[in-house]
Amino acid sequence: MRLIVAITGASGVIYSKRLLEVLRKKNIETHLIVSRSSEKIIRHELGITKSELEKLANYAYEENDLAAPLSSGSFLTDGTVIIPCSTKTLAGIAHGYSENLILRAAEVTLKERRKLIIVPRETPLSTVHLRNLLDLSTQGVIIIPAMPAFYHKPKSISELVDFIVGKVLDSLGIMHELFERWPGKYNDS
Ligand SMILES: Cc1cc2nc3c(=O)[nH]c(=O)nc-3n(C[C@H](O)[C@H](O)[C@H](O)COP(=O)(O)O)c2cc1C
Repeated sequence: MRLIVAITGASGVIYSKRLLEVLRKKNIETHLIVSRSSEKIIRHELGITKSELEKLANYAYEENDLAAPLSSGSFLTDGTVIIPCSTKTLAGIAHGYSENLILRAAEVTLKERRKLIIVPRETPLSTVHLRNLLDLSTQGVIIIPAMPAFYHKPKSISELVDFIVGKVLDSLGIMHELFERWPGKYNDS
């Protein structure tokens, strides 16, 4: 399996780090694009540099490298995950404004009818955000808001993170045990 993973400048870069760690363990080939805006957030929220995060992927590209293989539909992939997805990148995808490699890779994923998964992170959501999400949903994009559940009774941040990452893996058809499925051992009724 070969996946594109993109990280944009929204809070929640911990989700992308965890996803990359899990995909690496599962020997899934990853092509990573880190947006320039997310670099500061990676340093602030994870305390690591962009290059340290890039080491978790098999290949890494610069956001402005529009000549990268990922720019073309002839480069075959099993899908693209944008995690976390900023509202700016969301708007760019919804309107076909492909001014950087993340937006172009998403556009290619859509035009080739491949799987596109986005993990938007913003709150509250404006009408524009909701319209853009609806537009993408009608095109088949899988939207997994960074909105963890609590029915598995998480005791740590990593269990909350694993819930969202697990949902991304579910959407890709990748088996995992990142969270206990309902009712599991948590059904106390
Ligand atoms: C510390 C910090 C946190 C941010 N958090 C969010 C966020 O949660 N969601 C969002 O949509 N934008 C957030 N932004 C704003 C985006 O980074 C900004 O819109 C940027 O242009 C997104 O660019 P990109 O999509 O190319 O990465 C944040 C910015 C900073 C500096």
